[in-house]
Formats: sequence, C-alpha cells, structure tokens
Amino acid sequence: MERTVYIETYGCQMNVADTELVLGILAKSGYAQSHRPESADVILVNTCAVRENAEQRIFGRLGDFKPMKRSNLGVVVGVLGCMAERLRRQLVESETHVDLVIGPDEYRRLPELIENATSGEKGIAVRLSRVETYDDIAPLRTDGIGAWLSVMRGCDKFCTFCVVPFTRGRERSRSLEGIVDEVKGLVDSGFREVTLLGQNVNSYRDNGFDFADLLKHVADVDRSLRVRFTTSHPQDMSEKLIETIARYENICNYIHLPVQSGSDRILQMMNRSYTTEHYLELVRRITKSIPGVSLSTDVIAGFPTETAADHQLTLDLLKEVRFDGAFTFKYSPRENTKAWHMKDDVSDEIKTRRLSEIIDLQRSISLLKNQAHIGCAMEVLVEGESKRSPVDWYGRTDTNKVVVFPKNGASVGDYLPITVERANSATLFGQSHPETVHKSKFEHSMHKV
Ligand code: SAH
Ligand code: SF4
Ligand code: F3S
Repeated sequence: MERTVYIETYGCQMNVADTELVLGILAKSGYAQSHRPESADVILVNTCAVRENAEQRIFGRLGDFKPMKRSNLGVVVGVLGCMAERLRRQLVESETHVDLVIGPDEYRRLPELIENATSGEKGIAVRLSRVETYDDIAPLRTDGIGAWLSVMRGCDKFCTFCVVPFTRGRERSRSLEGIVDEVKGLVDSGFREVTLLGQNVNSYRDNGFDFADLLKHVADVDRSLRVRFTTSHPQDMSEKLIETIARYENICNYIHLPVQSGSDRILQMMNRSYTTEHYLELVRRITKSIPGVSLSTDVIAGFPTETAADHQLTLDLLKEVRFDGAFTFKYSPRENTKAWHMKDDVSDEIKTRRLSEIIDLQRSISLLKNQAHIGCAMEVLVEGESKRSPVDWYGRTDTNKVVVFPKNGASVGDYLPITVERANSATLFGQSHPETVHKSKFEHSMHKV
C-alpha cells in the first residue's frame, strides 16, 4: 500500500516553498500527500524560529500529535525547518514523540531517515551546507494561480536581532538557467504569477548575472506571467533593479522594503547598514522611477535601548513614507544572535503600547491610501472565491492590493478591470465589467514606458 505524508507549514514563504520541495522529494520515493494527520504514516511540521511566540505555537501543535503517536507507534513524527536547525537534539529530548529533526539543508535525506525511523531509530540531520540549492529537485506544487520559487537560500546579513543566518546558513544562489527553466514549466502548467523568494534577493548572483538580470529573464519567459519578488534589503537595491521593475509591465509595481526602525542609532545597533536618510532617498528614487508603486515594510518595536524618542522617529518615518502596508513585530530575543547579549530592557508593556501605536498609525495611512482608489478602475488577477461570500471573487492588483468583487461570469486566472467602490485598510471592494475581460492584459502593451 502507498505510504502517505501529512505536512504542516509555519513561517515565511520560503518555508512554504520548502514544503513543496519536501513533497517533491518524498513523491519520488513513492509517498502520497495526505490532508489528515490522523490517517498519515508520516507527520511532518515545517517550522519557524524567528520569534519566541512562533516557536511556542509550534510546541503547542506538536503536543496535538502525541496521542496519534501513542495510538499508532508506527507513525513517524518529524520536525523540519528553522526550529529543527536551532534546537537540534533538544527537540527529541523534550518532545519524546518526535522521531526526526531535520534542518533546511538536509531534506534530500528524508526518505532514508524516515525509513530508519520506521524501525525505531531516531534521526537528527542538521548540517548546513554552503552549496545546497535543490536546483535539480522538482517541487510538488498544488495547481493554482501563484507559485513560490526560492531563487536563493540562507542569509549573510547578520542583522543583530535575527536568527535566520543561524537556521538557514550562508547565502547561496540557484542557477539562472535552472530558475528560468522552472518558470517555463510553471507557465506550461497554467500558473499566472510567480514570486521569486530570498531573504535578500538583491544579493542574488549567478556567474555574471545579478538579480535585475534574473528578473528580466524571468519576465521575458511569458509577458502575461506576473512576476513578484521578496525580500529586498534597502542597502543593496540598485538603480538597475529599479529601472528593470519600471520597464517591464509584468514585473509588479510592489516592493517589500523592510525598514525595521526610524532611528539611526537603533538601525546601527541592528546592523542594518543603512541610515534613515539613505532609506528615504531610496524611497524617493523608487517612487520617481515607478509611478504608482506600492511599498510595504517590516517594523520592530522595542529593540534593546529603544527610547520614546527612537519610537517617535519610527512613527515619523511611517508618516513620511506613507507605506501601503506594514508587518509589525515586538522585539523577541533570539539565542546566538548579537542582540541576545544586549539587555532586553524595554518592558513588554511598553513594547505592546509602541506596537499598537505603530499599527494604529499604519492602519490610518493604509485606509487613506486605499480610499484614494475609490472611483478608479484597477486591473485585477482573479485568484479565487472570497472567504466571506460565495458570490464574490477575490484577486490582487499589480500593486498587491486585495480586491473583492461579484463573480459576474469571470473565471479564476482572468485579468479584469475593477472599479473600486469602497475600501477599508486591508481590502478594496468593487464591480467588474464582464464584457471587458482580458485573458491576458499584455496582449497589446508590452512596456509601461
Ligand atoms: N530577510 C527579511 C526578513 C526576514 S524575517 C529582511 O531582511 O527583511 C521577517 C521579519 O521578522 C524581519 O524583517 C523583522 O522585522 C522580523 N524579525 C526578525 N527577527 C525578529 C526578532 N528577533 N524579533 C522581532 N521581529 C523579528
Ligand atoms: Fe534576518 Fe537581516 Fe537576513 Fe533579513 S537580512 S533574514 S532580517 S539577517
Ligand atoms: Fe521563520 Fe525560518 Fe522563515 S525562522 S521566517 S521560517 S527563514
């Protein structure tokens, strides 16, 4: 009988892409995917270690699998990803029902380690690699509109708060050729959008090619394929990259550009290697070269030594840039990082208050920015059914805004002009014009400029 694997994913999009790699590796060894842990032969959890609360949640979830292991000793329970890499042996010691602990660079060994675990041998494989990119592995993707594609692994930036360089290892890029071939395959199997992933895509390198070259090659595969990417580090964003985004109609006008703090003193302590002046200048260049561009960011509240004045500088920066959206976090000390040795001296109460001030401010800015679209027609790629209403579709604009509108005869995968009628801080609501459905928005215009 065919063996089955159930896998759950936490953390960033790179983990989502890794889960598809893992399923690809296991499919080659004859495993079928199961959507129910109760009936699976192998239960895997692909984990995140970026903040304490991410790990707490996963520990809670691992507890749910304990009774399943107890009632079926044959089931193999494995922890993959960043928490596996960070905690290693400690994980099998504290979670006795866990059989496997496998870090992000050891997924090729999964079939062998599962096999051994079946005969009772616990497996720990957490070596990080300088070269592993899984270039030759075909990920097992669920058919749909958008695909995730990791173009590089690891990170060399060593921001002082961040565990990722320790859990993912050194930065390395996949080959441009391998990526372009994979994108061709995605187009052939009906995907309409691809998001190129890396912790810092701007430092992509393959022979003489940089990230702008890669984007261009990917965008040229099919001009009706939407191309997105994340994450860009503000220090390495080149003029060439900005020009490439501006020039190609199918490279989305959306950039996620984490700033983390509005205080130069804190940025320096974070080892972010840019100043707010550099950041604001970069934002000016981007908005000038890419009209209508949408920007989002990440912000951390309560980094060690952050004062009320530093916090105010963050609020000032948010007001000045007017991001379309922001992901906001309370600082969480992570073992091994440089900041771990700094005193976590901002109380949880103050972190909470600062975070909510950041969220409230950003929400009001996002609302105004979204409301500015009321009355405008925006092109939307239809992605699926609205979670709230079976008669509505949802889709996204080129600028990554979520739009909800009546189905009106349109299908998933269509590009539609939607007239925006109302908006809240997270979503636009509008009406479609079914007679003007385009199967591809790029039939007539190849370039924006
Ligand atoms: N490579 C990306 C993001 C990686 S993690 C980048 O450079 O921006 C995603 C976000 O989590 C970070 O941008 C940061 O805002 C947040 N983060 C990372 N470590 C954190 C920590 N220890 N405490 C709180 N937030 C953290
Ligand atoms: Fe972490 Fe900084 Fe690397 Fe992003 S760039 S993954 S925040 S070390
Ligand atoms: Fe989390 Fe690892 Fe991604 S720590 S954010 S899953 S790289």
